[in-house]
Amino acid sequence: MSKIRAIGVYDADIDLFEGQYRVLRGITYNSYVILDEKTAVLDTADKRKTTEWLQNLDAALDGHQPDYLIISHMEPDHAGSLAAFTQLYPTTTLVATQKALSMIPLYFETPPSNPTMPVGEGVKLSLGEHTLQFFPAPMVHWPEVMVSYEQSEKILFSADAFGRFGRADAGEWVDEARRYYLNIVGKYGAPVQRLLKKAQTLDIQSIYPLHGPVLTGDLQPYLSLYKTWSSYIPEAKGVLVAFASIHGHTKEAALYFAERLRANGVAVETADLTRCDLPEALAQAFRFSHLFLAASSYDGGVFPPMQDFLNRLSSKNYQKRHVYLLENGSWAPSAGRSMHAALDELKEVTVKDIRTLRGGVKQADLAALKQAAEEIAEEMA
Ligand code: FEO
Repeated sequence: MSKIRAIGVYDADIDLFEGQYRVLRGITYNSYVILDEKTAVLDTADKRKTTEWLQNLDAALDGHQPDYLIISHMEPDHAGSLAAFTQLYPTTTLVATQKALSMIPLYFETPPSNPTMPVGEGVKLSLGEHTLQFFPAPMVHWPEVMVSYEQSEKILFSADAFGRFGRADAGEWVDEARRYYLNIVGKYGAPVQRLLKKAQTLDIQSIYPLHGPVLTGDLQPYLSLYKTWSSYIPEAKGVLVAFASIHGHTKEAALYFAERLRANGVAVETADLTRCDLPEALAQAFRFSHLFLAASSYDGGVFPPMQDFLNRLSSKNYQKRHVYLLENGSWAPSAGRSMHAALDELKEVTVKDIRTLRGGVKQADLAALKQAAEEIAEEMA
């Protein structure tokens, strides 16, 4: 029987994770105890849940004193209970990368006086039957991050990688893992690729991320999606039709275009950028090979919800895609120019103008959109 105990907590009522992500199904802060000749605790929890986490810890320790606290990541959703832990256990050795150890004082008025053990690439820590081996994974998702491989049970404690929003014991992995990865870690594709290469050298039977469920069984689907996401290649052929409309005409044109694409056999999702969850729209933009953006002109530029979306795409390294544009402007169309300016900064993104609307949608606009949808469907076939 495994001597690894899960002591993580489920945060059901946080309104915005990391100050910006809606998590209608909550989020977990995962943490573990390994009871062996030596006792190790792996990560703490957000300070919102310190009391519950300490109760779980106390029950799992069953009277043992923790010899080591393994700190994978200093972000406060995981290290937020470090202060409470070090007050209770001032002699426990803090095991982390040198970078993580140097960051601890940033979160303390008076840093803890616990002994520390800096660890680097491949360093092993024997606990008895269990041995942890550490691998720094800088920028997955902060610079101090490391993952740990437990040799006897072949477990990769993967820090933020492979995490997802939501309860650990409910819901599919892929949709909330995609939204989590692309919004939170998405900018750092190259570091994730380096981690995946290291992971290939290990015999991994289970992945224990810091959020969401333990992954076990056939790990290839998870590894394959991470390879796709971190290399910025599309997961599926299809179009996200995203629109930002002031009075409804731009929306009408965008939805007509979406309907014509579907009629021509193209997989389509739509996103009303004035109302939808922008992180989910971003995840869908990355999922698909093609993107159609339709926006009203505004103050000599583009309607702000579209600008917000473009800013998010840029900050997450959106690339290697085909983008089609529709602008609307009654007296001085300017949305297209602004959208081009944002998209021109991105790598390997081809941009094509589809139509300029002038106010309402006319028969000539519908005819042009119908023809464009047919041509795009043919190109994608
Ligand atoms: Fe779940 Fe980057 O912290």
